[in-house]
Amino acid sequence: MARIVLGVGGGIAAYKAVYLLRTLMAEGHFVTPILTESATKFVGQTTFSALASEPAKVSLFEDADPIPHTHLGRFADLICIAPATADIISKLANGVANDLLSATVMASRAQVVIAPAMHEEMWENFAVQKNVRVLLEAGYIIVPPSHGSLAAGDIGVGRMAEPDVVADFVRCTLASERVDLAGKKVVVSAGGTREAIDPVRFIGNRSSGKQGIAFAKVAACWGAEVVLVTANPSPEFPRVRQVVVTSAAEMSEAMHLERDRADLVVMAAAVSDFRVQTFSSTKIKREGRSRMTLELEANSDILASLAASELGCCLYVGFAAETDALEENLVKKLYSKGVDIIVGNDVTKPGAGFDTDTNSVTVLSKSGDRLTLEEVSKETVAVKVLALAYEMRERS
Ligand SMILES: Cc1cc2nc3c(=O)[nH]c(=O)nc-3n(C[C@H](O)[C@H](O)[C@H](O)COP(=O)(O)O)c2cc1C
Repeated sequence: MARIVLGVGGGIAAYKAVYLLRTLMAEGHFVTPILTESATKFVGQTTFSALASEPAKVSLFEDADPIPHTHLGRFADLICIAPATADIISKLANGVANDLLSATVMASRAQVVIAPAMHEEMWENFAVQKNVRVLLEAGYIIVPPSHGSLAAGDIGVGRMAEPDVVADFVRCTLASERVDLAGKKVVVSAGGTREAIDPVRFIGNRSSGKQGIAFAKVAACWGAEVVLVTANPSPEFPRVRQVVVTSAAEMSEAMHLERDRADLVVMAAAVSDFRVQTFSSTKIKREGRSRMTLELEANSDILASLAASELGCCLYVGFAAETDALEENLVKKLYSKGVDIIVGNDVTKPGAGFDTDTNSVTVLSKSGDRLTLEEVSKETVAVKVLALAYEMRERS
């Protein structure tokens, strides 16, 4: 549980702050909303007061507390401003503290997460961009706005990130293990590959891609530029570029290409070990057959081939889904695949492995680190493993 000040600026996206407030409350945080005067023209103070941990605040001078900004600023573990207007961004970048929200940020040492929202022309304005750069340099976390529907039927860049995405940034920022990944490139593979038998059938596996997606999101929230090579497409996420593939061969080609200049490669995909030797270009018919045999041939081991051709600047994290002798198989894979970290899940355990939101894993590193995580969220697995990877980098 964290103490969060939720700042709301005066823009159309203020309604999204209501959803964000609900999410933060549902996650168990103590949330105090601060609305700017302009924000109250878009969504009523009463709505925020009714949903938050304490009444929403607006004024520096009319609160029961005679010095609200310092109390709120010191009280906060994190301040999240969503939507952040061009105006509030400018105030924060220039040290202006002439209302409760800007004064509270100025009077706080808490981490600040900013979700800008404005029309494309405003977002691209040189002054806004300059102010955003100032905030980034000062260590503020910016949740990039997306491209989509804006007010008055316009379409463009500047749309506030969806409330769930802002909540992801808040959670990842609050993680005590957080590492600053600004300027790093992280490549993650996710999902279950499919090997075509004929135009309508394939051999697949039960991987949902959730673990790989969790890695991509955490790395992006921590500032990395992420490439997600995935067999299971997922909704867009800021700073994550998706490369959608189908077969193991396509995944291999994409991973070799994207690995260029990568700082970290996480291979969380469930890659088919075998492919059909002869693909039938027409649908295989049942008539006249009581049985049929498919000849399979081995796919290349993507992780081993990536790690083997490594130039020494990139860390590799591999995953192993096992159904028996987990520990023994993990030690074998750590060395045979030449990776820095291996994460093993016993996919027979309830709440672990394929298509679950939780996972139970054993993590082993080349430097002798060992972690066990029992039925934790896939995001927590990503947080711990990314933190371990960068701790290893620091040590080396
Ligand atoms: C209908 C309407 C919508 C607006 N939407 C935005 C917006 O999305 N982003 C923004 O930066 N400003 C927007 N503005 C302008 C701000 O409300 C204005 O700059 C205000 O001074 C911001 O105050 P605040 O930063 O204290 O909330 C909008 C104004 C109006 C009238």
